[in-house]
Amino acid sequence: MARVILGVGAGIAAYKACELLRLLKEAGHRVRVVPTPDALRFVGEPTWAALSGEPVAADVWTDVADVPHVRLGQSADLVLVAPATADVLARAAAGLAADLLTATLLTARCPVMYAPAMHTEMWEHPATQHNVATLRTRGALVVEPATGRLTGADSGKGRLPEPAELFALAESVLSSRMDAAGSAAASFAAMAGRRVVVSAGGTREELDPVRFLGNWSTGRQGYAFARSAAARGAEVTVVAANVELPDPAGVKVIRVVSARDMHAAMLDEARTADAVVMTAAVADFRPAARSGQKIKKDGPGPRVPGPIALTENPDILADLAARRAAHGPAGQVLVGFAAETDLDLTAAQAKLARKGCDLLVVNQVGGGLGFGAGDNEAVVLDAGGGQTPIPRRSKDALASVVWDLVAARLG
Ligand code: CTP
Repeated sequence: MARVILGVGAGIAAYKACELLRLLKEAGHRVRVVPTPDALRFVGEPTWAALSGEPVAADVWTDVADVPHVRLGQSADLVLVAPATADVLARAAAGLAADLLTATLLTARCPVMYAPAMHTEMWEHPATQHNVATLRTRGALVVEPATGRLTGADSGKGRLPEPAELFALAESVLSSRMDAAGSAAASFAAMAGRRVVVSAGGTREELDPVRFLGNWSTGRQGYAFARSAAARGAEVTVVAANVELPDPAGVKVIRVVSARDMHAAMLDEARTADAVVMTAAVADFRPAARSGQKIKKDGPGPRVPGPIALTENPDILADLAARRAAHGPAGQVLVGFAAETDLDLTAAQAKLARKGCDLLVVNQVGGGLGFGAGDNEAVVLDAGGGQTPIPRRSKDALASVVWDLVAARLG
């Protein structure tokens, strides 16, 4: 159970914060809602009080004897502002404190996460972008807005991400705060402005125009890495192999099919990256020949009379490590994944050395974990022989812990 302050800015997306509040409450957290005075025009005090089971105040003049403008921020484990309007971001960046929410933001020493929602023009305005950059360099998480339908006839970037997505990120921040050796703010700030590249999904190796050799990877873990890095202010590219999930907000997505496509895209994108995470399940082999026509069981045309001959694919991670060793960039952090049915850490340490990466996230697949599942658990090995166990948690939360380890290496 954590103590969460849910700040609500004066935007129409305030109604979505009701659902976010419900998710936080169902997860067992104690949530105090702190709307701005104008936010109460969108959703009223009784709604927040009933859903949170806690008193609600927007100004600093209620229950003054308890000094709420200081106490709320001091005692919170997470302050989450959703929706964060352009006005709230500006006031937070400037350090203004005229209402209870902005006063709380000044006194909070816990992680602070903003989920902006506004019209595209307001989001893109240099003033807003400057305020977001300021907040991120101070260690706040600012989630990228989603793209889609806005209020009125407009559509574009500026939608509040879905409550379930915000909830997953909030949970990941809470668990990362508990595990991180240093402060969460320092870890988040270390990623701001960094270029990161993540591979996701599973490659498909074609046999003919209708068939392929593939695997069960859905891309959920890779997309969780991308979302989490984008919220930390990193510039994120995902190289996605056959992923059917919606694009994570604020992330560049490059679609590929085969291991060779992914190899080309990853080597190109990683050239200037500060960190590279290979979550993709890459096929080690592909059919030695691809038939141009559908292979028939019988009759004229190509047939597969016996075993399918295979040829080896390039090892992307090993090639990334070799290229880094030969040409840089020095200081780039390379992270591999190893999904194993047997958790043999000695073999995994040998795999890390063979691949030449800095961290290897070793996870067991099967038993409701791994491919397609919402949760994951892992042990992160490092090249120095260190081990960091990550007990079972959401894929977003796991990604956040791994980013903390990466951030520590980025310095
Ligand atoms: N990987 C890669 N290119 C490949 C195969 C794997 O970049 N052709 C990456 C994966 O994305 C992952 C890591 O290497 O980050 C380990 O993948 P894994 O399949 O466990 O390694 P393999 O070397 O294929 O070993 P195994 O024999 O256990 O399959």
